[in-house]
Amino acid sequence: MKSQLDHIREVALKDLENLRSLAELEAARVRALGRSSELSQFLRSLKERAEGERRELGELANRLRGELERQFDGAKEKLEDVAYAALEKLDVTAPALRSRRGHIHPLAQAQDDANAIFASMGFRILEGPEVETEWANFDALNTPPDHPARGMQDTFWLQGMEHLMRTHTSPMQVRFMQAHQPPFRIIVPGRVYRNEATDATHEFQFHQIEGLMVARAGEGAPSMANLKGVMEHFYQRFFRDPNIEVRFNASYFPFVEPGVEVYIKGSSGKLAGKWLEVAGAGMVHQNVFERVGYVRGEMQGFAFGMALERIVMLKYKIDDIRLFNGGDLRFLRQF
Ligand code: DAH
Repeated sequence: MKSQLDHIREVALKDLENLRSLAELEAARVRALGRSSELSQFLRSLKERAEGERRELGELANRLRGELERQFDGAKEKLEDVAYAALEKLDVTAPALRSRRGHIHPLAQAQDDANAIFASMGFRILEGPEVETEWANFDALNTPPDHPARGMQDTFWLQGMEHLMRTHTSPMQVRFMQAHQPPFRIIVPGRVYRNEATDATHEFQFHQIEGLMVARAGEGAPSMANLKGVMEHFYQRFFRDPNIEVRFNASYFPFVEPGVEVYIKGSSGKLAGKWLEVAGAGMVHQNVFERVGYVRGEMQGFAFGMALERIVMLKYKIDDIRLFNGGDLRFLRQF
């Protein structure tokens, strides 16, 4: 019986030598000292023995149990020391890595700026549908099907050909006037679509800001001079350059008469020294007023339209329009 106890000790100590983790140690402890271990079974079997033998073997077995418990405790401490030593390599006082927060896209930021400037001049900000009717996008804007100006804007037609992706924000002039009587001043920021190849200055999808100010014809009705004043004020504030000058060049858009291209020249950055085209504008054509249900000659007003990308590129000296939607964080993080 004593040799059985020696055997138990031998097996347990051997087990202890090969431990590599606290989990392995726990398993070895259960094997050596658990309820179904050989040692526990041995102790349970003692009650079947004679009084004297029971006392002697019981003492030996309990002593072995105590010895093994100490051995296991010692081994556990050693393994824990190893684990803590590994932990100490983690410097909990090191400064945390800074997490990056997102920020507003440069185009959205510029749009917010533009909205605020126009709002300060009393313009209401409205949005319109990106899927438009051919009528609102072209016909009502004085551009019938056989009109050569249709060729100016390459169109994404939708199936059935009566709807299209709006090629400009101007159709919102039509929608708004159909539902409202002058006087009013509105701007319409939003996405527009052109069916054309992309390059550094062309995208098939970009943003415009449309403007429209109309009142009853007569004294004080919005004039070309007012249009120039609004343009001047807007560009001076948008580019934060009080020296910006505005010039109109005669041009043609079917929905205005006279029509102009708006040029600006500033004093710094890309704006310095030369005239740059930044918008189309003009006095709203009486044909358009008639299409939306106003009486010919009763109303007077101006309209303008500009590409948001164009002025943001000038402001921040960006030379490729494709960067805006390229998803390159090195570009976006600069703003
Ligand atoms: N819709 C024109 C375009 O996309 C821009 C434009 C020109 C808008 C003259 C206007 C305007 O309101 O009066 O090319």
